[in-house]
Amino acid sequence: MARIELCNLEKSFGAVKAVKNLSFTIEDGEFVVFVGPSGCGKTTTLRMIAGFEDPSAGEIRIDGRVVNDLEPRDRGLGMVFQSHALFPHKNVAQNIEFGLRMKSVPQADRVKRVREVADMVRISHLLEKMPNQCSGGEAQRVALARTLVTNPSTFLLDEPLSSLDAKLRRELRAECDRLHQTLKRTFIYVTHDQEEAMTLADRIVVMRSGEIVQVGSPMEIYSNPANYFVADFFGSPSMNLVAGEVVQNGTSTRFRSSWFDFALPERFKAATPGTATLGIRPEHVQVHVGTKGDIELPVRLVEPLGKDTLLYFDASNDRAFVAVTEGLGMADIKVGERVALSLDQHLTHLFDTEGRRVNTA
Ligand SMILES: Nc1ncnc2c1ncn2[C@@H]1O[C@H](COP(=O)(O)OP(=O)(O)O)[C@@H](O)[C@H]1O
Ligand SMILES: [Mg+2]
Repeated sequence: MARIELCNLEKSFGAVKAVKNLSFTIEDGEFVVFVGPSGCGKTTTLRMIAGFEDPSAGEIRIDGRVVNDLEPRDRGLGMVFQSHALFPHKNVAQNIEFGLRMKSVPQADRVKRVREVADMVRISHLLEKMPNQCSGGEAQRVALARTLVTNPSTFLLDEPLSSLDAKLRRELRAECDRLHQTLKRTFIYVTHDQEEAMTLADRIVVMRSGEIVQVGSPMEIYSNPANYFVADFFGSPSMNLVAGEVVQNGTSTRFRSSWFDFALPERFKAATPGTATLGIRPEHVQVHVGTKGDIELPVRLVEPLGKDTLLYFDASNDRAFVAVTEGLGMADIKVGERVALSLDQHLTHLFDTEGRRVNTA
């Protein structure tokens, strides 16, 4: 059991407020991912939960009990760091059993337990090897095993995969997912990688500048970003975000930018006129050839990727407007050609001057 409550948690380093009045509850057995750009306070939050960092204010409760004054080893949590920091002169088995030795577990039990967890993360064949004989992915599995062996109520993982290449990252991501499903323990995972957050989390906590900006399931965050920052952070390729203005024009509400003039869906009819940003994900832009769409834009670049083709258009000064089309059907479109596009009525977003998503429920 481990339900972790963070109540008005704060942490300052001198003048730097790393974490500001953060309140959030992680339910027992939940996989929660804290995600946000570098420096937003993720590691500091995790280190306060683990007990490596004293909060400047606020409380941390584990299963209802305030643990602020409890030593890290008495909190029943297991931490996996970004750099796995294995003991270089101990072999893999000795590295894994270290936590058990600290707890004076008898040798026979240690051996049995090390075998069990090595099996669990598929490194039984590596037990006699030294850390410098392990690949990056293997070393990270050893680090996982080293935490697993202590049987923590909660796993705290700080960017555990960020030093690995993309393929290994995906592989170990699946491993974390499987461990969570098998162990049914609480997982708190910190990353700056939106894709890791999307694929692993039951709930995502998006952080920015020491504060929580949105909490939700991956689908909620992806479909209904609270603001421009979240909209821009999740998704690859990113959401198209075009600066312009909302114009009330007698019967219709329109969005005008220097590149196009778009009749906004009916649900935006009460939108406040003036500066705004239009947002639409690349997969929600439909490309037509020879027929009329909502807007028309010139092709800047064509990227055939095999499974799909990305089309980039001139639509704003700072970045291209992207459409994802299935397969290679659009791969032959010429640069400079003007193409008709329709924007999905239900999946078009509008953000106000403060960056908040204009709600049209
Ligand atoms: N020990 C420290 N001393 C001073 N400033 C720190 C310390 N740890 C973190 N910070 C600052 O606190 C902020 C949040 O850092 P951190 O929690 O490491 O962010 P993240 O893990 O999201 O990248 C940053 O501005 C960072 O420079
Ligand atoms: Mg960090």
